Amino acid sequence: MWIDVITVLPELLQSPLSHSIMKRAQDKGLLGVNVHNLRQWAVNDYGQVDDYQYGGGAGMVMMCEPLSKAIEELQSKRNYDEIIFLTPDGETLNQKTANQLSLKENLLLICGHYKGIDERIREHYITKEISIGDYVLSGGELAAAILIDAVGRLIPGVLNDETSALTDSFQDNLLSPPVYTRPADFKGWKVPDVLLSGDPKKIDDWRHEQAVQRTELRRPDLLKNED
Ligand code: 6GU
Repeated sequence: MWIDVITVLPELLQSPLSHSIMKRAQDKGLLGVNVHNLRQWAVNDYGQVDDYQYGGGAGMVMMCEPLSKAIEELQSKRNYDEIIFLTPDGETLNQKTANQLSLKENLLLICGHYKGIDERIREHYITKEISIGDYVLSGGELAAAILIDAVGRLIPGVLNDETSALTDSFQDNLLSPPVYTRPADFKGWKVPDVLLSGDPKKIDDWRHEQAVQRTELRRPDLLKNED
């Protein structure tokens, strides 16, 4: 999968993409991410990419011209399956969307800043708008990093143990069961006997039961959600 990102703060995306699973995905050649500074396409030598909004009001708006030039230049090199704008008024990201996006070849992500981007860019270029939850961030960069992580780890071959994404919370609309590691007794706090029983069927059943209980208690909404 190839992901291009357009942003005014490329530095914000470097670290999250440079470690752990995201690093491995790129090292293995399964994921390529290229972060582009929008100022390359600025309207003047001051690096201007935003301007006051028509109609008045606080906050700057990201201008059409730099975004349009950036998008069209990148489009001339790649055919994007989706051009995604990260915005709090987009559809809320969930595991289903992450699964769908993990099957795509090329994605272009646009990070908004300031008051937002000129509506005409949304109308004419953007094919999908994604939010990561009902709260406001200072910009789309951290949301883009989250989207790339959620999607990137689902690309086949990225995770060592292929089954581990399948047993993640949410993959089957269930939260994960509790997990334990050594020692079996820490300060008198014991690991459940069943996990030490060596009986795989009993362990599987226990884990499933715990997952269902935990979901009923913490996220009953997931159990009603069939897709
Ligand atoms: Cl994608 N962007 C911003 N700025 N804030 C958000 C968001 C995105 N998702 C939730 N809050």
